[in-house]
Amino acid sequence: MEEVSRQRRRFLAKIIALLVGLPLLWRYLVPAGAGKGKVLVRARKSDVPERGALVFREERVALVRSAGDIYGLSLVCTHLGCTVNVTADRLSCPCHGSEFDRFGKVMKGPATAPLKRLKLELRGDDIEVMEG
Ligand code: FES
Repeated sequence: MEEVSRQRRRFLAKIIALLVGLPLLWRYLVPAGAGKGKVLVRARKSDVPERGALVFREERVALVRSAGDIYGLSLVCTHLGCTVNVTADRLSCPCHGSEFDRFGKVMKGPATAPLKRLKLELRGDDIEVMEG
């Protein structure tokens, strides 16, 4: 009887150790932020102008402000992938002339699909533009 009770306590101790250890092992093996996607660019909300956009040419990303909202647009043209230029009221592709409005919607082809909206993480005045 005593032996059964001791075995039961050991078994329960192993279960508890496993329940406590698994989350710690998970945190060790899976880095913080994994699965969140890669951060393409970081900026401050206050740096996004009312007109035009805050452009990150190398990353091919624009942060656009409209009626107080800020959103991220990919500057990769949906026609054949050229980098789109940003003006005060539109985005235009130098390769074949596609034009997009400030929301990325196609105004003039040959592109038929809108510019990709990028996911933003907002923390106070900081913005992170996420890939994917
Ligand atoms: S690549 Fe932009 S219009 Fe063709």
